[in-house]
Amino acid sequence: MQVIEQVSAIRAKVQELRCSGKTIGLVPTMGALHEGHLQLLRASAQQNDITICSIFVNPTQFNNPDDYKLYPRTQVQDVALLQAVACDYLFVPDVEEVYQQQTQLKFSFGALETVMEGAHRPGHFSGVATIVSKLFHYVQPHRAYFGQKDIQQVAIIRQLVDALSFDLELVCYPTVREASGLAMSSRNTRLSQEEREQAAHLYKALQLAKEQLLQGQPVVLVKAEVQRYLHEIKQVALEYFEVADAYTMQPVQDAHETQELALCLAANVGPVRLIDNMLMNLNERNTVTLGIAGTGVA
Ligand code: PAJ
Repeated sequence: MQVIEQVSAIRAKVQELRCSGKTIGLVPTMGALHEGHLQLLRASAQQNDITICSIFVNPTQFNNPDDYKLYPRTQVQDVALLQAVACDYLFVPDVEEVYQQQTQLKFSFGALETVMEGAHRPGHFSGVATIVSKLFHYVQPHRAYFGQKDIQQVAIIRQLVDALSFDLELVCYPTVREASGLAMSSRNTRLSQEEREQAAHLYKALQLAKEQLLQGQPVVLVKAEVQRYLHEIKQVALEYFEVADAYTMQPVQDAHETQELALCLAANVGPVRLIDNMLMNLNERNTVTLGIAGTGVA
């Protein structure tokens, strides 16, 4: 695997690869890689001639300076993991090069930004859209890989690709979880053992909500039940729990407003803010896939 740091170097490499007819898969990440990332990298390696992983802790998407400062950076370990999944290139640009010019450009995604992560992290999705656009320009991938773990981010990037006519295919894979049900996240490394155990209750809360909705409980009661359940867990402070339309991400009052639901939550567990979600179909016990590849969508 070749490590490339400079934007000019990745542009030249991509040019060369495209000229020789190679297909390119891009897996954008912020590093501290885990099985959730590796799933995307393996899929890319299977579906493309060349796989490029980017690692860039993107300052413009952090609305909490401590979160940015304390975000885990584990490049030596990441390189070893990338080699094991046959990644061809690791692109690790410098903040100074990526954000050479101060930009006033801001993305706005309308209704998608007024709910959940959009509402709770002002400016976050504009920062995500900025870096993802830059990466798409640098790398010009044929396919780009994202995880259902950040389901609202997927909706944002889908809108970005459509609105700016990026010529690529978005591929989405389901959330990879620890045995306890805890969604894998780079931020989990900041949890103590006890916090990690308590964080597994976030998944249990989603399961509880899904079960209750399938039994026909009204959304308002299910929300209250999730709040009650998580209130009992010492280190967990729920920020939001929403029952949303899985396509538009807009919260619903009545679960029958749409067939395909996304149950989404954010919570602080000790010092770390975590998000998780679960897709469900109210009418059938079928799994919703939303074009998400692979199996095991929870
Ligand atoms: P990061 O959190 O590193 O995640 C990189 C990709 O891995 C994202 O598409 C994310 O949804 C996916 N991912 C993370 N945890 C996962 C899990 N447990 N199961 C499946 N997929 C998982 O998301 C970002 O970085 C950034 O916002 C980025 C898109 C790179 C822009 O800076």
